[in-house]
Amino acid sequence: MTTLRNFALLAAAVLARVEALEAADWAAAEASAKTALAKMSQQDKISIVTGIGWDKGPCVGNTAAINSINYPQLCLQDGPLGIRFGTGSTAFTPGVQAASTWDTELMRQRGEYLGAEAKGCGIHVLLGPVAGALGKIPHGGRNWEGFGTDPYLAGIAMAETIEGLQSAGVQACAKHYIVNEQELNRETISSDVDDRTMHELYLWPFADAVHANVASVMCSYNKINGSWGCENDHAQNGLLKKELGFKGYVVSDWNAQHTTDGAANNGMDMTMPGSDYNGNNVLWGPQLSNAVNSNRVSRDRLDDMAKRILTSWYLLGQNSGYPNININANVQGNHKENVRAVARDGIVLLKNDEGVLPLKKPGKVALVGSAASVNSAGPNACVDKGCNTGALGMGWGSGSVNYPYFVAPYDALKTRAQADGTTLSLHNSDSTNGVSGVVSGADVAIVVITADSGEGYITVEGHAGDRNHLDPWHDGNALVKAVAAANKNTIVVVHSTGPIILETILATEGVKAVVWAGLPSQENGNALVDVLYGLTSPSGKLVYSIAKRPEDYGTAPSKGSNDKFTEGLFVDYRHFDNAKIEPRYEFGFGLSYTEFTYADLSVTSTVTAGPASGETIPGGAADLWETVATVTASITNSGEVEGAEVAQLYITLPSAAPSTPPKQLRGFAKLKLEPGASGVATFNLRRRDLSYWDAGRGQWVVPAGEFTVSVGASSRDVRLTGSLTA
Ligand code: BGC
Repeated sequence: MTTLRNFALLAAAVLARVEALEAADWAAAEASAKTALAKMSQQDKISIVTGIGWDKGPCVGNTAAINSINYPQLCLQDGPLGIRFGTGSTAFTPGVQAASTWDTELMRQRGEYLGAEAKGCGIHVLLGPVAGALGKIPHGGRNWEGFGTDPYLAGIAMAETIEGLQSAGVQACAKHYIVNEQELNRETISSDVDDRTMHELYLWPFADAVHANVASVMCSYNKINGSWGCENDHAQNGLLKKELGFKGYVVSDWNAQHTTDGAANNGMDMTMPGSDYNGNNVLWGPQLSNAVNSNRVSRDRLDDMAKRILTSWYLLGQNSGYPNININANVQGNHKENVRAVARDGIVLLKNDEGVLPLKKPGKVALVGSAASVNSAGPNACVDKGCNTGALGMGWGSGSVNYPYFVAPYDALKTRAQADGTTLSLHNSDSTNGVSGVVSGADVAIVVITADSGEGYITVEGHAGDRNHLDPWHDGNALVKAVAAANKNTIVVVHSTGPIILETILATEGVKAVVWAGLPSQENGNALVDVLYGLTSPSGKLVYSIAKRPEDYGTAPSKGSNDKFTEGLFVDYRHFDNAKIEPRYEFGFGLSYTEFTYADLSVTSTVTAGPASGETIPGGAADLWETVATVTASITNSGEVEGAEVAQLYITLPSAAPSTPPKQLRGFAKLKLEPGASGVATFNLRRRDLSYWDAGRGQWVVPAGEFTVSVGASSRDVRLTGSLTA
């Protein structure tokens, strides 16, 4: 007993030291930064806050070296899913696919591998992960770079990615800060958002990023309540640096700076790329020097910018032994294993009638669609993935990377068919001409359809970043109908950057299964075959709702000069629940080849009503991050095969919190279970998870009263309910 107690005390002491060390990291880094700063001239300081100009260095962003302090030419490189322009690196799965796994271990490993590759290439700052766009608009061109429409899930994914990435010694960059929700007019639009919505939806995942000690944050192109994102005092100085206690630096999105003094005085710390894309317009550099010399920008502010940049560099230990820059280094290692696992476990099975899946050595399989095969011009034929030709693995824009190889559905199915002695026939087109001849007589027909989107500087098939509609591309509905007319075992596979309306497909007789395969990157076909043949039971769950009609979302790209965010907190499932609109497939939904039962809910809580207090630590008031309640539930695999279940916890706040969404995700746990086996899902609720933002008080507040705790298999499939009281 005594030994046990001693051990507990020792463990507590070690934990306290680790926590103290963690807290000290920023302080130690800042102290080193101050020492270095004292050795720097004003020109040196100007140099490290100003990019050297577009296309002037090895990376998409570069600053000059400062020899007196052994500071290198800093390399900032896209992006969120790998090394942009790299030729020896992995094309990781997009954020949205990682989120769809709901698997924190895979998310963290993805971050670690991203970090290892960036470091291997000598990249100091990898420009990701993405929490803005959050995806309030289903058409949003860049939603796929981020982690789905729920701020809690996005926040967890941000933290896992950042901690993984930074553990390799690379600076992460949380972007795009903030309310950067559409591509249309992204460089002029104002996102006009109220304080509560800002905190509870859009700032939330950035708070997780700061809590995870993110080194840098990228301010966005759009205006926020009328003033430019990179010149917004409230967003940068007020929310990020003061309220969230962010000690790293804010770097502009590329060309998002508008004025010399406004950016400097309102919280931006580094400008990129340092000129416009024509190499002309330089807003810092000599201009910033003039502003400092004429006291329009204080010397203290310049020191603060430089100190923040140096602090992050020291925090990550980049001041010693960092590799030289080589974007083309071969750094892939075994990282494709993570790509395959995320691609596979992010697949969501939406429909599976009459057990058509998994496939069991079918005699004849027909495969249909241009997206079944790799682009005949090569998987990297289109610059920044700016085309939707052939199989789809990611959206387009600066957040895309080269594929080192690409396994399309046809490639992987061919291998499997050969092993099984299955005859595989291919209709490698989206045209309905001649398709019935290919599919009739096959045991199953697999149709692959897509919907693509990306960053607004490229227009693909008339879509200027944001999607123009939520239908499948290339008339996918007509293709599915033609196939299903000739084959009563039609399986529809969807590769998409976001939701599409499935009503036509679901109303088509003969469509037995719908496999939402998302964006699987280079392991596209392998991941699909793993699930189609039941090598793994599907375990992904939707990270956005699939509506019956586009209007049901209540949001669409704003065509005017501002977006008033009139939907407030009611985005995605928060809106469907509140407006009592039934989606086709709700947020958190996903089928398996097995069944899970839920039992034994237990709730313990020490939470007290009232505002958060406590000193500011990275991420905000310290007590927001403390666990105040724990919920457990027992999950049993009651089916026939092994599988994994994502148990989800939703909270309903008491009415003392006015106008709050009916249910909000505040916990999830993924359990892998053998048939017949049970496991315990544990959800730790932090104070922030039970709070709302009281805009009048300007504080997070736990409302007094009874909270409903719902645990289930999706946002609408609630299996257990309980309560706790504050
Ligand atoms: C994008 C950023 C990217 C930057 C550098 C911008 O167009 O919005 O996400 O990091 O370019 O390529």
